[in-house]
Amino acid sequence: MEISPSILSADFGNLLSDIKKAEKEKPEFLHIDVMDGHFVPNITIGPLVIKALKGKTNIPFDVHLMIEDADKYIKEFAEAGAKNITVHQEACLHLDRTLQFIKSMGIMASVALNPATPLETLKYVLPSVDMVLIMTVNPGFGGQVFIEEMYEKIRELAYIRESRGLNFKIEVDGGINVDNINDVVFAGADVIVAGSSIFGSGDPGDNIKKLRGAVKR
Ligand code: DX5
Ligand code: ZN
Repeated sequence: MEISPSILSADFGNLLSDIKKAEKEKPEFLHIDVMDGHFVPNITIGPLVIKALKGKTNIPFDVHLMIEDADKYIKEFAEAGAKNITVHQEACLHLDRTLQFIKSMGIMASVALNPATPLETLKYVLPSVDMVLIMTVNPGFGGQVFIEEMYEKIRELAYIRESRGLNFKIEVDGGINVDNINDVVFAGADVIVAGSSIFGSGDPGDNIKKLRGAVKR
């Protein structure tokens, strides 16, 4: 299992210091939630902040774009230091083109699905993606409750991957904590995003350790 701490729940007044605390546990990614106030009802951070963090941490940036018109900004996010860019299926009119564009920047190209969006919508792009991000809350905010029906979606996606001989990673985002992480990994998740359970309270490094320790299978 890989872990991608979401800075959405970090202390923005002390962002780098929070990231440094997480860095001690060597997470595989740093999850950065970009929201535009259109695709989702919240506004967060843009390429300027990501660029400012570039070179200050060695954790690779996992950029989750919850924005409309992603094509307009992909180059900027790639240049700002993204190792992976995830776009939403629901926000991309020409999803295949957008994914190819991300790949042309020499980085990982991934796609996210809202809880209500069926896996079938990705049938023809699965061979081209590096990760599929299954949203287990409705996107827009940290600290929401994991939607139980999503276990089945994760299992189905893992089955599709196996039966088609594909090798994208399955990333899961929303409401993951020490009580459910084991079930999420058992269902088929490879990359776990966690915001409030890492940056919400206590030490982010210790919290990562606790999450990893809660995975038994
Ligand atoms: C929600 C974001 C998540 C969020 C997860 O739209 O995509 O990455 O930070 O936060 P928790 O782990 O608190 O649900
Ligand atoms: Zn996210």
